[in-house]
Amino acid sequence: MNKKPKIHILATGGTIAGAGETSVGAVYEPGKMNINDILKLIPAINEIADISGEQFINIGSQDITATLWLKLARHIRKYLASDEVDGIVITHGTDTIEETAYFLNLIIPFSKPVVLTGSMRPTTAYSTDGPANLFNAILVASSKNSIGKGVLVTANEKIFNAHGVSKIATTHIDAFADCSYGPVGYVNGADVEFQRSVKKIHTVKSVFAKTLPKSLPEVVILYSYAGINTMLFDACIKAQVNGIVFAGTGNGNVPKPFLSKVKKAREKNIHIVRASRMLRGEVVTGELSDEKLGTIASGALIPQKAKILLQLALTITNDLLQIREIFKYY
Ligand code: DGL
Repeated sequence: MNKKPKIHILATGGTIAGAGETSVGAVYEPGKMNINDILKLIPAINEIADISGEQFINIGSQDITATLWLKLARHIRKYLASDEVDGIVITHGTDTIEETAYFLNLIIPFSKPVVLTGSMRPTTAYSTDGPANLFNAILVASSKNSIGKGVLVTANEKIFNAHGVSKIATTHIDAFADCSYGPVGYVNGADVEFQRSVKKIHTVKSVFAKTLPKSLPEVVILYSYAGINTMLFDACIKAQVNGIVFAGTGNGNVPKPFLSKVKKAREKNIHIVRASRMLRGEVVTGELSDEKLGTIASGALIPQKAKILLQLALTITNDLLQIREIFKYY
C-alpha cells in the first residue's frame, strides 16, 4: 500500500480562521480559529495524507510584513529540508496571499509543493468556502503532479501559480484569477490536474533562494491617475527610497511632468519599475522607452509583485541591466 504523503500546515490567520457572530451575518473577525479546529471539519483528509498543523501566526493578512515573510520562509525551509515533510500548506488571509506566494516562490530552494489557500467566508459561516479550499490545498500539496511547479495558490477548485495569481474581488467567493494566463490547473474531486507549466524562474532555480536576506530594501508603489501631481514622487526621492514601482496607466504610461522626476531619481540611484494599473497584459516598450528613461519594464507582474521582485533584485545587484534581465526571467 502506498505511504501517505506527510503534509505540514502552517496557519497564518485570515478569514479561513475567521469567526463570525452568527453563521449568516457578514460580520466576523479574521484569525480567531486555530488550524486544528478547522482540520476537524475535514476528517476525510486523513485518508489522503498524514497531516500536522501549526499555528504559525494568527493575523489579518493586511498586517503581514517583510519581517514575517522572512520568518515564515526560514520556517518553511527548515521543514522542507526534512524527509519527514513532503509538502507544505499555508492558510493565509486572501488580501495579500498573492504577495506572500510570490515572495516564497522566489526564495524557497525546494521543488516539494508549497500551496497557499484562504477563504472569502469565515469558517463559522453556513456558506464557508474555507474547509473545501483547505481540503483541496492538501490534495494539491499531496500530488506528485505538483512537484516542481513552484509555489501555488488554490481556491474554488482552481490552481494558480504564484507569478500570475491576484485577488480581483473584494468579497465575492470566486475572488481569484490569473488575468493574463488563467489557472495552471484544477482540482476535480480528488484529482489534481495541471493544464500548463510556468516558464518563469522559481524556487530551486531562483538566484534568490540561495541565501535568505536579513531584510528587504525599501521599495514603494505609486498608483497613477488622471491629473496626478508629482508630490508623492518628490517625497520618495527626498526619502531616498531604494526603488519606486510606478503603477502607470495603460502600457505603464507615465505622465509628462514625471519624466524629469524619473531622471532625477535615476541620478540618485533610485530604480524605477514601469508597471501598470491594468490587470491583464505585459508592460513593454511602447509610448515610452525604458532604454531612454533608464527604467525597468514590469512585464506581466502586477505592481505589488514587481515591488517584491525589485526588492529581492536589489539584495544582489544595483546594476540596471542585471535588474532588467531579472524582470525578463522571474
Ligand atoms: N483581513 C483579510 C485578510 O486576512 C480577510 C480576507 C480573507 O482572508 O478572505 O486577508
